[in-house]
Amino acid sequence: MTSQCRARRQLLQFLAASPFLSPLAAVASGLQASTSPLEDLITSPEQALNVFDFEAVARQRLPPAHFGYMATGVDDDATVRANRDGFNRFQLRVRRLIDVRQIDTSVSLFGVTWPTPIVLAPIGSQRAFHADGELAAARAAKTGKHLQMLSTQTSTSVEDVIRERGEPVWYQLYPTDQWTVTRALVQRAQSAGCPALALTVDLQGGSNRETATRARRRDTRDCLSCHKPVQGATGSSGMGSALPDGKPMFAGLDMSQVRSLQAAGADWDYARRLRDSTTMKFLIKGIVTREDAELAVEHGIDGVIVSNHGGRGEESARGTIESLVEVVEGTKGRIPVIVDGGFRRGTDIFKAMALGASAIMVGRPYIWGLSAFGQPGVEAVLDIMRREFRVVMRQAGTIRVSDINRSHLVDRQIGK
Ligand SMILES: Cc1cc2nc3c(=O)[nH]c(=O)nc-3n(C[C@H](O)[C@H](O)[C@H](O)COP(=O)(O)O)c2cc1C
Repeated sequence: MTSQCRARRQLLQFLAASPFLSPLAAVASGLQASTSPLEDLITSPEQALNVFDFEAVARQRLPPAHFGYMATGVDDDATVRANRDGFNRFQLRVRRLIDVRQIDTSVSLFGVTWPTPIVLAPIGSQRAFHADGELAAARAAKTGKHLQMLSTQTSTSVEDVIRERGEPVWYQLYPTDQWTVTRALVQRAQSAGCPALALTVDLQGGSNRETATRARRRDTRDCLSCHKPVQGATGSSGMGSALPDGKPMFAGLDMSQVRSLQAAGADWDYARRLRDSTTMKFLIKGIVTREDAELAVEHGIDGVIVSNHGGRGEESARGTIESLVEVVEGTKGRIPVIVDGGFRRGTDIFKAMALGASAIMVGRPYIWGLSAFGQPGVEAVLDIMRREFRVVMRQAGTIRVSDINRSHLVDRQIGK
């Protein structure tokens, strides 16, 4: 070994061992920022500079299996990364010398005005992340006046969540393979006062969640004391959690015939039948193409959500911000288009609004906040995202959300 090589090796060893410089070593070795050392962890929500600060705390606090359930994508997790990378395709074109003292971030959905376009995405089983689960998220949504969408797999009933939120939430529907159960879920959400229902269609074929499986293997706790394996269950998540064992939205329903939360045979007639079974606004969550956006409009669907389930469906390797472009071309402004997947920064939100989104949903970040600090953590995450969005609106010279348009972006792929 030359003396130059030896010196370089010694330097790298020093960097790797140094508690102060190890983030640098992590970057040098290609690790992600979320692997920052414990001494970098925030100890209260106020210390956070951005939403990623909560991920590091969540990683430390959660059991490996629960962190893995949250973090996982499918196959190589390429679609999780693509959701973030997709934003880099678009650069900002900002305007100057506009009076930006008054900024209005409000948006309107189905005639209701929300002070912010940031919606809480449906995330199942939130008590796996904090004892207060969906109730903490509801209280934080109330503080920041956010629209919240509740998962079929909620660990707290829709009635309790609405009580805590102080106004109705939207309901996300996993249809199940039994129409009587599906109909009962829809009727319960409607009776609870939910004004809108979103049918999730992006897991119909099953998903291969290797990161979740590996994380479960590292977990030394007795998972069967909480998760009961269900006889005959089909689905991806194992542990019997493919079926809603003990979940409050299924209480009192005859689940003896249910084998999956997905309706593998669902088609557009099925969607129309569901739509006709309720007076709630009916959205489809999981649309990623122009063709399906056009079909949604043709079938009288009230709105679409561009989503790849946070990279947990198929390994498309395509970010939702890129899918948004063609979905907006398909709907042509006739119905609202909401988008989720990888939203972490105010600039991400700005780009989606410039591409024609009506609102955006945030998933994992508020779960990081919940896992780290409960309700104050969720509040802080939402607060940071609202703040960052306001800053970029001001910097771009856009006073209202309706001022944000395609002229504020350059698509690197086409150079304009
Ligand atoms: C832990 C976890 C649980 C989820 N549960 C549901 C669910 O029950 N229903 C659903 O439609 N989507 C579910 N999703 C997808 C989210 O609604 C949303 O599409 C996705 O998280 C957005 O991407 P992001 O996490 O990168 O923000 C879940 C996502 C995660 C990470």
